Amino acid sequence: MRHPGRSLAALTSVVLTMSLAACGGSSLSSSSDGGGADGDGPVSIGLSVPLSGVYASLGEDMTQGFDLYLEEHGGQLGGRDVKVVKADEGEKPDTGVPATTKLVTQDKVSAVVGLVNSATALGLRDTFEGSKVPLVVANAGADGLTTPTSDYIWRTAFTNGGVGGALGAEVADEVDGGSVYLLGSDYAAGRESVGGFKKAFEAAGGKVAGETYTPFGTTSDFQPFLSKVKQSGAKAVYVFYAGAEAVAFVKQFDSFGLSKDVQLYGAGFLTEGGALAAQGASAIGVRTSLHYSDLLDNPVNGEFVKAYAAKYDEPPTTYAVQAYDAAAALDKAIETADSTSGADIAAALADVGEIDSPRGPWSFDEKHDPTQTYYLREVADVDGTLGNTILNPLGEQG
Ligand code: PHB
Repeated sequence: MRHPGRSLAALTSVVLTMSLAACGGSSLSSSSDGGGADGDGPVSIGLSVPLSGVYASLGEDMTQGFDLYLEEHGGQLGGRDVKVVKADEGEKPDTGVPATTKLVTQDKVSAVVGLVNSATALGLRDTFEGSKVPLVVANAGADGLTTPTSDYIWRTAFTNGGVGGALGAEVADEVDGGSVYLLGSDYAAGRESVGGFKKAFEAAGGKVAGETYTPFGTTSDFQPFLSKVKQSGAKAVYVFYAGAEAVAFVKQFDSFGLSKDVQLYGAGFLTEGGALAAQGASAIGVRTSLHYSDLLDNPVNGEFVKAYAAKYDEPPTTYAVQAYDAAAALDKAIETADSTSGADIAAALADVGEIDSPRGPWSFDEKHDPTQTYYLREVADVDGTLGNTILNPLGEQG
């Protein structure tokens, strides 16, 4: 459940940021070598996540994960005080591209962390390449961000096709000859997630009953799409929805009566964090693939869950871990970089090695995506609270 403690936590995070911004004192100058400055003053890091729109709750989780890492490390990355400059990515590129561009061109940050929406992140690719400032993508999963690979783009998250693809063979096995209907938000993330699932599902002998993409950010009534699912006779559904869209979809799937006869599968964002808390019992039994659950049993996650819950009064999410790990990667990179210029930090990101993450240890692959394990998760009641229980690993991929 989400708790009222959340607003106090958000306030604490702002105070931390402001006090870090106030300390240090040496002025930052711009550099032709990609933002930031050298000297002993604080290193400026931009954090661009949605604080409004359908993905606002994801942005809040990412801010919390990033702030927790800083708090646990004395407000420093790589031995340098940090000034965090925050921007509101909003819902789509029309807000996210200008807000993030300002961090680079006006605030002269040394690196940017964040970005939830794939379309927004794709719209910023040239900005980061051109300015030689590294972007550490802490969510957006579009293939085009890391293919072709850029010296300035690194990702601590996932690829949308990877999350969907991880589930394909498992679902083909579970439906055992029955067909599956595919649904997703109509933009890069929905199309790549469904595409990745479909490829792996069909390769494993699965049959697709139909495929529909719903307008992103404006669909609140899924009834017409749920009718199509029913008419198709599909035995199961695979979907990509996140944030507020995930809440509406799962609740309506249940209230439409489909959950009795049709198994719902999805990329794990469907039942993550605030979405699951809002879906409540309508999400029980939903099966998803993802690289994290707060219920993962490893010592690093045990400590992380305890620290996160103590600070924010709620369990951490995948979004929080991705931002926490982005801070960890920058911590290692800034430690060894020749200076705090964007170009030097970007070069140092190539040598950060293994990140000892709550999701389990991972490293950047040759495309700058994490090599990591995906898990089959199922929503169940765990000691009176709904959670994403881990059923089994689905294999390792980017
Ligand atoms: C994306 O746009 O790539 C995206 C957005 C929200 C998610 C996952 C992926 O939860």
